[in-house]
Amino acid sequence: MRLVSGIKPTGDLTLGNYIGAIKQFVNLQNELKDAEFFIFVADLHAITTPQDKQQLKKRVRDIAAMYIACGLDPNRVNLFIQSEVLEHPLLGYIMESTAYIGEMERMTQYKEKKQKQLKDGVRTSLLTYPALMAADILLYDADIVPVGDDQVQHLELTRTLAERFNSLYGETFVVPKAYTPKVGARIKSLQEPTKKMSKSESESEKAYILLLDNINQIKNKIRSAVTDNEAKIYFDEKNKPGISNLLTIYASLTDSSIEDIVKKYENETSYQKFKEDLAEIVGSTIEKIQTRYYELIKSNELDEILNQGREKAQFIAKRKMTKVLNRIGLLRQK
Ligand code: TYM
Repeated sequence: MRLVSGIKPTGDLTLGNYIGAIKQFVNLQNELKDAEFFIFVADLHAITTPQDKQQLKKRVRDIAAMYIACGLDPNRVNLFIQSEVLEHPLLGYIMESTAYIGEMERMTQYKEKKQKQLKDGVRTSLLTYPALMAADILLYDADIVPVGDDQVQHLELTRTLAERFNSLYGETFVVPKAYTPKVGARIKSLQEPTKKMSKSESESEKAYILLLDNINQIKNKIRSAVTDNEAKIYFDEKNKPGISNLLTIYASLTDSSIEDIVKKYENETSYQKFKEDLAEIVGSTIEKIQTRYYELIKSNELDEILNQGREKAQFIAKRKMTKVLNRIGLLRQK
């Protein structure tokens, strides 16, 4: 069995990225002893929107280091940088030649992000991006793709494209399945808990927690999270989105069930203790991650891991690409 996933280096990593994606990679790595993992930094996806060159360079490295700092084991997981395996954009083009424009235009993320680029011009790659994402996955014959909720639509498209290609040219790709966590597939903003936690989509810094935020600042952000006036702790996403989001974060980081946490705080008459405990949990989880991150970022270890990951990814990707080109009739030999 093979698992593939990536994160794009457009903003600093948030607690949402950790809970929705990275923590799942780590859990799956520990549960599925025989599975192979290809986890990458989706740097080509970043340039669908304008990026500062130095920032982009830093973020690519940051994500690679964070994957390991969060618990990915480089002996178990092939970690690499997408643009170092040129078969990704090559298969991306082939996926563009498999997909229809209407399918791309229906993608929710495209419709949302397009609004922000209207003034300066919408990049073509913002529209075609899901074809590259499909290529990222299909290149490795992934069975499972662990992602947060907001990527599920792209996974559906990937499945459609794989099936279409297979029926046009003969069985070539494994049709992958999305895997979303039971708890934490969509971590919400701490200030507007009906919206997704996202740095780029938030007005206030208090709305999101970054994995590289100062630990005291992180605790304060939890303490000042928007809740409600009922002073009773239970899960109800519709009527108590703030508390439900905090319960989700609590459950995910402590690997416990929401019911058990609700029980633990059933006699509380305010949110104070619950928030204080959660502030400690989030703070100490991220503190451990940061300690490992700062060791890695200044060592040579990271480059060695990325070189090794690149070799393995290139090997698999090249072999697959030969097969794909051959299927279409694009190879001179064979
Ligand atoms: P990206 O970089 O926006 O996000 C990376 C991962 O983090 C998850 N995520 C969240 N999960 C829960 N709550 C949140 N608030 C939250 N915010 C982000 C996302 O769902 C995602 O799993 N297109 C992808 C990157 C990508 C990819 C791939 C993923 C490129 N190629 C191939 C899987 C397979 C993206 O933009 O994710």
